[in-house]
Amino acid sequence: MKKVCGVLARLAGRGRVLSLMLASSAVVADGLDASEINLEAEAKARIQPFANQLLETVQEAIRAQGAPKAVEACQLMAPQIADRHSQSEWQIGRTSLKLRNPNNAPDAWEQKVLQHFQQEIAQGKPAKELSFGEVVGADYRYMQAIVVGEPCLACHGEKIDPQVRATLQEHYPQDRAVGYRVGDLRGAFTLTLRNINKEPAR
Ligand code: HEC
Repeated sequence: MKKVCGVLARLAGRGRVLSLMLASSAVVADGLDASEINLEAEAKARIQPFANQLLETVQEAIRAQGAPKAVEACQLMAPQIADRHSQSEWQIGRTSLKLRNPNNAPDAWEQKVLQHFQQEIAQGKPAKELSFGEVVGADYRYMQAIVVGEPCLACHGEKIDPQVRATLQEHYPQDRAVGYRVGDLRGAFTLTLRNINKEPAR
């Protein structure tokens, strides 16, 4: 964990360093080598299709069935969508410090990164710019902040329709994922590529 903290401490300047490094790919600086840059790019590329499918699914369910039923659709579909996007060697999911589904609970590393995101926000950094990746043991891990937008408020906002609230209570009796405003940090996408030094198959 010591190493995690050391790397986290350097997070602030990282975006700039990264863009410089991408411009001249062989450069090694700030403790990141070229393979980590490639892994970061790979991780990033996997997030948008996953996020899009989640959002499209929930919006379609709201349109077709209304928000209370869409809560149930989300409970059913969100884990399936995560599985579908974890078919390659990359695992992808979502986590948060204020959970709806306890299955999405962060492990120790994810918790540290989420707490660091919160500190960065407290220091004035926009939530949507926050991401962090590093090699952890034999794995590469990457997280990117999830920010609350308008379409999220029906189920995660401050004023939730009573029927939606009742459905949430029924399915998630320990729900803590409410009371958010647009721009808040909701949680993060979390990705793992296992065993990065494994010999490629011949
Ligand atoms: C129709 C209601 C609904 C809407 C709209 C909605 N969510 Fe959720 N959200 C849920 C439900 C239900 C879960 C729990 C899914 C599960 O059981 O895996 C969830 C889970 C999550 C999680 C996983 C962490 C946790 O607490 O379990 C994140 C992150 C999240 N939502 C973010 C968002 C964001 C960002 C938006 C807007 C783009 C959004 N949600 C819109 C209902 C909704």
